[in-house]
Amino acid sequence: MHRLELLFRRAERVEVLVGAGAWEALPGLWRPEWRQAALIGDSRVMSLFGARLEALLGARVGALHPLSFPPGEAHKTRDTKQRLEDALLEAGLDRGGVVVAVGGGLSLDVAGFLAATYQRGLPWLALPTTLLAQVDAAVGGKVGVNTPRGKNLVGAFHQPSAVLVEPAVLEDLPPEVWRDGLAELVKHALLADAGLFARLEAEAERLRLPCVPEDGLLARALAIKAEVVQADEREDDRRMVLNLGHTVAHAVEAATRHAWSHGRAVACGLRVELRLAERRTGFPAGERARVDRLLEQLGFPPEAPGPASEVLAWAAADKKRRGGQLGLALPEALGRMATRDGRYALVVQPGELEAAWAATFA
Ligand SMILES: NC(=O)c1ccc[n+]([C@@H]2O[C@H](COP(=O)([O-])OP(=O)(O)OC[C@H]3O[C@@H](n4cnc5c(N)ncnc54)[C@H](O)[C@@H]3O)[C@@H](O)[C@H]2O)c1
Repeated sequence: MHRLELLFRRAERVEVLVGAGAWEALPGLWRPEWRQAALIGDSRVMSLFGARLEALLGARVGALHPLSFPPGEAHKTRDTKQRLEDALLEAGLDRGGVVVAVGGGLSLDVAGFLAATYQRGLPWLALPTTLLAQVDAAVGGKVGVNTPRGKNLVGAFHQPSAVLVEPAVLEDLPPEVWRDGLAELVKHALLADAGLFARLEAEAERLRLPCVPEDGLLARALAIKAEVVQADEREDDRRMVLNLGHTVAHAVEAATRHAWSHGRAVACGLRVELRLAERRTGFPAGERARVDRLLEQLGFPPEAPGPASEVLAWAAADKKRRGGQLGLALPEALGRMATRDGRYALVVQPGELEAAWAATFA
């Protein structure tokens, strides 16, 4: 079992357990003041794991309130959160309660946000069940919901007390959901750890389809995210590195009206942004070719989602929203992000993105 301990500035301590049996550690982590618990996840994860978790928690807690909501981004809303809150108020969950969030990034975001505001804030525990949530979404404390104007526009920073990563639950993930996590895994290796990148290359064949990754692989990827968010909890500058590939990815998602999954869009974004890095930071062409190859081996063929002008218009709209400048964090080598004047965000002109796009899909 791998054990990490994250410390945030406001003295919040987050215990992270990664490995077989992590969920079984739940009763041992339980605090005496947690007299009631809400167990929250989307209906799919609750039907897969709800009974197991109820059995685990039943012995520790006086009253357990299992609640679910329909899966999918369309239900990651204020309305869903409100309905869950009303059900918990009705059930009498008070300030002696704790929220146990189970599921992918979506369930953790909704349940964590509920925990951030219910009775002015309850502690919560994160039990991630997708690859994306296990290597990324479960740590960092960003929680929230979508609005008709965009994704994750209403939310909070609220750190979970513990994150319990049980790798075996990944075995039966739908392949597309699995792949979304692979793209983030490649991103983490790219931005901080050339050794992890080489390991992904060596294991690409096995990792291409849903499987149970080794604890060490998950723990390393999660530690990269943890290290970045501890250094910059509120997204001042350093946390920008986690956006690698995402400026283009968000434009791709918008241009395809989300017909492209997040992982597929991130793979495309990494390809384009590395071409940009070649020009801006001297990222070596040979390393860029290794990234292209790994993405392809993991099931992301090089494919353009549409004409550059259509897709990049969305990036330009993003620029407008951010005060007229497009800031991107780019690597200068495998495992190392570039800085200029001590900052990670490099100002990029739309023309540079267009040129990188053209070079990627020539
Ligand atoms: N808070 C953060 O830092 C952060 C970071 C990245 C992404 N996110 C958010 O995460 C969400 C995407 O997360 P996701 O990709 O995990 O998707 P998701 O949570 O929507 O899960 C995808 C699907 O897989 C199902 N599922 C979950 N675990 C399963 C399992 N073990 N076996 C079988 N099916 C399972 C779910 O029910 C759902 O239908 C987005 O809403 C995104 O905004 C948040």
